Amino acid sequence: MELAIEAIGITKKFGGHGKGPFKKPIVEALKNVDFKVKSGENYCLLGPNGSGKTTLIRCVLGLLEGEGSIKLLGYDIPKQRNKIIQKIGYMPQETSLYSDLSVKETLQFFARIFGLKNREHRNKAIETILDVLKLKEWQNMIVENLSGGMKRRLSLASSLVHEPELILLDEPTVGVDPKLRLTFWDYFNELNKKGATILTTTHVMDEAEKSHIIGFMRDGRLIAEGSIDELKKRIPKYRKLTVKTTIENTESIGSLISKECDLEVVPSQFKIEVFYDDNSMLEPILELIKNETKIQEIITTEPNLEDIFIHFSNKKEGSIDK
Ligand SMILES: Nc1ncnc2c1ncn2[C@@H]1O[C@H](COP(=O)(O)OP(=O)(O)O)[C@@H](O)[C@H]1O
Ligand SMILES: [Mg+2]
Repeated sequence: MELAIEAIGITKKFGGHGKGPFKKPIVEALKNVDFKVKSGENYCLLGPNGSGKTTLIRCVLGLLEGEGSIKLLGYDIPKQRNKIIQKIGYMPQETSLYSDLSVKETLQFFARIFGLKNREHRNKAIETILDVLKLKEWQNMIVENLSGGMKRRLSLASSLVHEPELILLDEPTVGVDPKLRLTFWDYFNELNKKGATILTTTHVMDEAEKSHIIGFMRDGRLIAEGSIDELKKRIPKYRKLTVKTTIENTESIGSLISKECDLEVVPSQFKIEVFYDDNSMLEPILELIKNETKIQEIITTEPNLEDIFIHFSNKKEGSIDK
């Protein structure tokens, strides 16, 4: 297994400088984080604002110095950063572009500094990215005159134009037109299928769902990671059966099920909810209910990403669940 990113024991503190009443409080933005992304993976860091996503990406890239050790594409960071700079595409959370260049000049600039030496190759790469990110008709516009969303798209284009093998995108769709937002994530998936390793961050659940592996960040810690399927299976009794009944009071059926099947049951009016993991339990449960009342409707559900996030957030602090 080859690792594109291998960060071990990363701790990063901000503040602590200044004197007396001007002394800045110390913020521990990352607390001993181990973070690995395999080559070819499509990984999304998901977490609320302030949970440490940006700090982790900046540490991984060697833009911030913290404690711990970091390897990117097998090279030591920050020491050997120069060796891999052309293989990496990074889009920071805060857009930074040259305001007096045109859209096309911006892309030419980034393509050149990131090593697309052949002019023909460079022009082709620029045409492609203009097309994909719907910037073609604005290619001659000066950056200063672009809208916020357009700047964001250009910033994304600038980080991808040199066809990097490792792509790090920090909140890539903030400020992007809602209609375009999810198409962007589909495009990241396409790049990933073509071989790029992708690391994104977001605080939006439906965006994270587009990635194969999700890492939950909270309070400077990586609290759980895996595919959605893997993550939900780690929640005990993650499936829910809801049965609508014809009788109003379902308490006695409820206690019967919890006794016979040893499951958590929530009875309410005209309805019973049972939490379980093993599908073979369904039949005996429904049998028990059928003996007592007529069944009106059966619904089975599994937790969504939000439920999963809440589950892991409520677990003991500091537990890393892998
Ligand atoms: N340059 C900085 N100086 C002081 N505190 C910072 C700085 N950058 C980030 N922080 C703090 O570190 C924590 C993590 O921030 P950040 O990595 O930006 O989170 P996220 O990207 O998940 O929103 C926050 O409490 C934030 O206020
Ligand atoms: Mg951030």
